[in-house]
Formats: sequence, C-alpha cells, structure tokens
Amino acid sequence: MLKNLTLHKVTNYEAMSQKAAEIFAEAVNANPTGSFGFATGSTPIGMYKALTQMQKNSQTNLSKITAFNLDEYYPIKANDPQSYAYFMAEHLFTETGITKSHIPNGEAKDPQAECEAYEQKISSTGGIDMQILGIGTNGHIGFNEPAQNLLATTSYVPLAEATIESNSRLFASPDDVPRHALTMGIHSIMMAKRILLLASGASKAEIIRQTIYGPITTQVPASLLQLHQDVTIIVDSDAAKNL
Ligand code: PGA
Repeated sequence: MLKNLTLHKVTNYEAMSQKAAEIFAEAVNANPTGSFGFATGSTPIGMYKALTQMQKNSQTNLSKITAFNLDEYYPIKANDPQSYAYFMAEHLFTETGITKSHIPNGEAKDPQAECEAYEQKISSTGGIDMQILGIGTNGHIGFNEPAQNLLATTSYVPLAEATIESNSRLFASPDDVPRHALTMGIHSIMMAKRILLLASGASKAEIIRQTIYGPITTQVPASLLQLHQDVTIIVDSDAAKNL
C-alpha cells in the first residue's frame, strides 16, 4: 500500500465511528478555529454522534471551526428534511454550536454562480484542514461520479443512475430524488491538508479495494486519493473483506 495512505481496519460500524471521531477531534483540538470539511450519508452519522458526545465530555469543542460541506442536492430547499443543510443541522451543527457553516445553496437561482462563489469561500479561508469523505458503491466522492472526465472545482453536476437508485432509499419514491447536485470538485477535495475516508459494510468492500489498490482512474473517482499526500481510511471488517 502507498505510504501516503494510512489504513485502520476495525471491527464494526461503532468502532469505525469512534476511531474517526477521535482522529477528527485531535485535528480540531490542534486548530480549534480551522476549516473542516464534512460529508453526509449514512456512514458519518455515528462519527457525528461520537463527536457530539466528546464535546459534551469536554474532550473537544467544534463550535469555533469553519465548516464546509462537500455537496448539496439541486434544486432543494434548505429546510427540506432531505437536504444536506438539514442533515448537518440535525446530526452535528446544532448540538455542537457550529455556526460558521457553508453548504452549497440548493436554492440558488444560478447554480453556476453559486459554485464559483462556494469555491471562492473555500480558498478565502486558506483551505480545509481535514476533509471527511464517505464513498459511493460506484467510487464517487462528494457527487463526483465515475466519468471519462472529472471536474476540478465546485460544480453543478448530474447524479449517476447508481446514486439516484442508492439514495432513493431515503426518499418517498425514486422520482423524488433530485437529478442534479452542487459538489466540491476533485481539486477542491485534493487541496484539503488531510483526508479522512470512512466505509462500512460489505457493499463497499470491492470499491474500497479498487480505491486503495486499483489503477488511478476517473472511473473510480476515489482512486485519485492515491495521489493525495495524507489520507486516512477507516473501514469496518465487512468493508475490509477484499483487502
Ligand atoms: P452512504 O453514502 O454513507 O450513505 O453510504 C456515501 C456516499 O454516497 O458518498
């Protein structure tokens, strides 16, 4: 395995969440007013719960960080329970008192202009200290879907069929899943000083193997992380079973 990648194999989802929270809290404690990147999805929920608990126990304090989220559906209202703005408030921001939070605006009139403004906000803070990532079963990071070409900066993108299908479990019907999103691009993600990628469950086992050991290809966007200088991957035993 490449030297710039650190792999932690842990037993289950709870252990993955706890380990991720500890690594993240350590990074926040080293820079309590730094910029940190967040992900949504089922995977980081346990980590966010553990971080909230750590803050209650005075082991960390997230309230002074600046937060950037990877992506948001488009179009979607911020107060829609399916929006990532809603997700972050519910799972982390409200309880930990994070107020300097940035999420691409799913209600923006001009999605292109919103992407440019978002990219500008990230670079104006001096970059992200640690970026949390989940991974799609198709290898997407953020909503950077497998394709012949990937985009560098925050972009307005169509969702892959596999993503619509996978995320439809959270909507009343597959027709309700927005077909587009605003996502940080590959460059926006790669510029983070450190990356913390989490994966849990057997459905992620094959894509985790390809991410770590496969060729670097835009058809597996996460494989580009092999080029990043400081990536930590935490997998539970089901997600590690092909390693
Ligand atoms: P999940 O999504 O955490 O719900 O599996 C991960 C992703 O699509 O990036």
